[in-house]
Amino acid sequence: MKAVILSGGLGTRLRPLTWNTPKSLVPVLNKPFLEHVLRHLKEHGIDEVVLALSNLASSIQEYFGCTNSLDMKIDYVMERSALGTAGAIKNAAEKLSHDSFFVLNGDIFSDLDYSAMLKCHRENNSDVTIALTAVDNPAAYGLVETKGDGRVTRFLEKPRQDEITTNLINAGTYIFEPGVLDMIPTDTEYSTERQLFPSMLASDASVRAFASSGYWIDIGSPEKYRRLNFDLLSGRSGKYGFQNGNEVVTGQAGQVHPTAKLEGPVLLGDNCVVESNAVIMGPAVIGDHCHIGEAATISASVIWPRVTIGNGCKLISSIAADNCVLQSGCEITQAILGNRVKILKNYKLPTGSMVEPKQIIG
Ligand code: GDD
Ligand code: MG
Repeated sequence: MKAVILSGGLGTRLRPLTWNTPKSLVPVLNKPFLEHVLRHLKEHGIDEVVLALSNLASSIQEYFGCTNSLDMKIDYVMERSALGTAGAIKNAAEKLSHDSFFVLNGDIFSDLDYSAMLKCHRENNSDVTIALTAVDNPAAYGLVETKGDGRVTRFLEKPRQDEITTNLINAGTYIFEPGVLDMIPTDTEYSTERQLFPSMLASDASVRAFASSGYWIDIGSPEKYRRLNFDLLSGRSGKYGFQNGNEVVTGQAGQVHPTAKLEGPVLLGDNCVVESNAVIMGPAVIGDHCHIGEAATISASVIWPRVTIGNGCKLISSIAADNCVLQSGCEITQAILGNRVKILKNYKLPTGSMVEPKQIIG
């Protein structure tokens, strides 16, 4: 069985992290986000995927290639300019066989039971099955109204507050029958949520909901991206990530000074150096090849690979993308640093700062 993964969005809301890194490759527990998604598909026997790409496509292809350690067949389709969520699926049509296939928004992490969803799809002879999840505020999502028997009656993308009638939303995972591809125009920008689903409902197609209550998050913003890392560290997503919630896992070939204090949950990548009296308070994820200086303090933060944290720095509730350098004595709180940012000695960055890549500040 195949899955099309929509990975071509611009990741605008995740900037400055996504200026130079596609949303699919942002590291989650030190592995590209998409790798987690692929592993989950594979666990359910879905081992052929088509990645629908438009933005920063080459870095995704370079990373995953065609054969890979996951032992999955990965194919790629490219849009010259973004075709929208349904246009991107249509663009992948020639890579799909004449069988039902999954469609995944590429920015969702969930422990959805794909096998049970497929069973539901087949038992009901549906044209499309949409996974649903419950959220506190559906305004940022696609609201889905259903009948008692699970048939979808209304699909409303990004509803206004006064239009919210349920807390159930589109979880960004579908099963399509191949015939649905004929309902999408070729080489045209077309939206699954705003055009395809409403038009299918208007024409009485069989669109069914599959409710799920497991872990689910859309990594659409830095805050949610950080939360996903921490949820996985603290074992909040069932079988993925850490199990007991306060482990300290250190990678290979690193050096952690005996006076450094690591309080879990902490994931420290390979080849990291942690100097004397440094304190890393979990939840914290630190990428490969990072250097944490003497008496530096890190807490509730996600650090990408090759980051240098100088002596005595404080990095609290923040994200630092790859190759950032914090010179000694800096203080960074609730900030998001794009890659290759340099913060000069003793500088106290205003709380909540978002710093674009390659800026030198201080
Ligand atoms: N290839 C390709 N081409 N992919 C695209 C394009 C495109 O033109 N536009 C968006 N995508 C990808 C994005 O990269 C993302 O993985 C997915 O499609 C969904 O786009 P988002 O921009 O993240 O949409 P959203 O989060 O506002 O809303 C969608 O997801 C919600 C669940 O998180 C909708 O499907 C909502 O209905 C849903 O509730
Ligand atoms: Mg999204």
